Amino acid sequence: MTRRTRDFAVLVLTTGTVMLILALTGSLGLIEALTAMFVIGAIAAAYYVGSAAMQLPAPAKPLEASRREGMALADFLSALPLPAFEVSRDEQRITSFNQPAAVFLRLGQRRSAPPRASAIIRAPALLAAIETCFNAAGLGSAEIEMEIGPEEQWRAHIHPIPGSGNLMVVLEDLTPVKRAARARADFLANASHELRTPLTAISGFIETMRGPAREDKESWDRFLSIMAGETERMSRLIADLLSLSRIESAEHVQPTAREHFGDIVMSSVDALQPLASEKGVELVFDEPEALPAVTANRDELIQVVENLVSNAIKYSKGGHKVTIRCGVAADAFAARTEAAQAWPDSERMTLLQTSNRVAINEPTVWMRVEDQGPGIEREHLPRLGERFYRADQSRGGKITGTGLGLAIVKHIMAHHRGGLAVETVMGQGTAFGVWLPAARENQGV
Ligand SMILES: Nc1ncnc2c1ncn2[C@@H]1O[C@H](COP(=O)(O)OP(=O)(O)OP(=O)(O)O)[C@@H](O)[C@H]1O
Ligand SMILES: [Mg+2]
Repeated sequence: MTRRTRDFAVLVLTTGTVMLILALTGSLGLIEALTAMFVIGAIAAAYYVGSAAMQLPAPAKPLEASRREGMALADFLSALPLPAFEVSRDEQRITSFNQPAAVFLRLGQRRSAPPRASAIIRAPALLAAIETCFNAAGLGSAEIEMEIGPEEQWRAHIHPIPGSGNLMVVLEDLTPVKRAARARADFLANASHELRTPLTAISGFIETMRGPAREDKESWDRFLSIMAGETERMSRLIADLLSLSRIESAEHVQPTAREHFGDIVMSSVDALQPLASEKGVELVFDEPEALPAVTANRDELIQVVENLVSNAIKYSKGGHKVTIRCGVAADAFAARTEAAQAWPDSERMTLLQTSNRVAINEPTVWMRVEDQGPGIEREHLPRLGERFYRADQSRGGKITGTGLGLAIVKHIMAHHRGGLAVETVMGQGTAFGVWLPAARENQGV
């Protein structure tokens, strides 16, 4: 019986009895006694109903109490999204575990007896910590970090299970957190290095012009033109960094404008014609048949075309040809084949997969930029599109660049639910392909 039920019963019974006695002894008329009993009964009922809302929920039961009530540890484990398992005091066997732990510990096949922890767990640090916890007086608890392989990092939380003498181990994957921290540190190191290099050159020339070459006015022109080049390099780098951060911060804002992909490609290619002529590279743009519109940010797509075509020009020699083609395919897979899988014996790599938010059979527009340059060695392919990654660093660094161009392209294509791929044949050329879904009939402005 709850407290409020008891209060209610006592109140009603006591007042009922008092009224009855008063009525029987003649101190109170029967009508008055009945009215008073009715009023007090109504007040008691109001208390009973009103106090229900004030009732506090029952406190959560500790694990031990729940176990006594028959709730198995396995139920707790299976509700945990992290790998978790129980190690018995007796022979240190893994007596229960959840599905993520089965994957982590590779506990696939059925076994007749629970396996020993030492036979299953490959991290010596974890085994040692479990051992230490068992040896501690009254079972200890511990928290350790461990590296598994060159890349993975995990944290293990070991706690005694009350009442059983066993231990519970919960594992937490720290790999993504550590990877993000490393990427941030790498990015800062690279960015400051890239900025410091031209700055060092500029301040070196200023020193020379103030000191040893103070009177040598003839060489000043040469120094100034080198300094101008370095300044230009720095402002290009800052512009690229700003553009990357702008694209990243707008990543979740979907483009809305309806644009003509063919027009964007054509005007961007035209803008690069002087650069190509200066180098003696022939730019060939195969005019596409009518292309469907795309839902896009025009400036961003111009950046994609300019980065890919300027790379093709940069890595070509005089007399080479750079060919730009575009078209439309039935879906993203067909578009990737057209854009970056045209040469039979090429090395191929998809640098950005089409987002899974794109429906199957969604008509897809593609562009291919093909050159006759030196090609890219196979080992570099997976890392293209990483910020500051340059494949030709080892070739003596004659061609300058910061390695941000493809990172920008990759981000923009992700923003447009598109993809990016490359194919290359050493000594014969490279082709980069991009694709993005065509706008639906009723979509866009
Ligand atoms: N068409 C190509 N042919 C050969 N190598 C290429 C080609 N395009 C890109 N690469 C390689 O990929 C690397 C990354 O290209 P990315 O455009 O990101 O940087 P970058 O051109 O060096 O510098 P920038 O930031 O000025 O564009 C280049 O350094 C180069 O080694
Ligand atoms: Mg580039």
